[in-house]
Amino acid sequence: MKKYLLLFIIVISTMFTFADTLELYKNCAGCHGENGEKQALNKSKRIGGQEANKTIKELTAYKNGELDQYGLGNIMKLQISTLSDSDIKEVAEYISNLDVNASN
Ligand code: HEC
Repeated sequence: MKKYLLLFIIVISTMFTFADTLELYKNCAGCHGENGEKQALNKSKRIGGQEANKTIKELTAYKNGELDQYGLGNIMKLQISTLSDSDIKEVAEYISNLDVNASN
């Protein structure tokens, strides 16, 4: 029990410590690429530079389990489930500034 409590505290404090946009996007980069240049699991569009409002709509719908474009909506639901509305907004704005042609 104590162990779980400790783990919980670590998770929560990590969330607060790294709650800046880039950290939020790091989870995403594994599938979508540092610059949003990858097709996640060879399915999604390249999200880099995508208009923020569109991303917010999509992410909110994934979170609510209402979007499933290529049969992998559940994967995105899982990714988004821990994000608050303001996290979603922040990450969407970050994505809109990504350049799929950047080479870093
Ligand atoms: C495990 C791999 C994975 C991770 C991590 C991941 N995604 Fe996705 N993402 C996918 C897949 C697969 C889809 C397509 C889902 C579907 O079938 O609709 C997708 C779709 C999307 C779309 C819609 C793209 C389109 O084609 O319209 C957006 C926007 C998006 N993801 C943003 C994010 C953000 C932001 C994060 C991080 C918080 C994230 N993703 C993390 C795999 C991932």
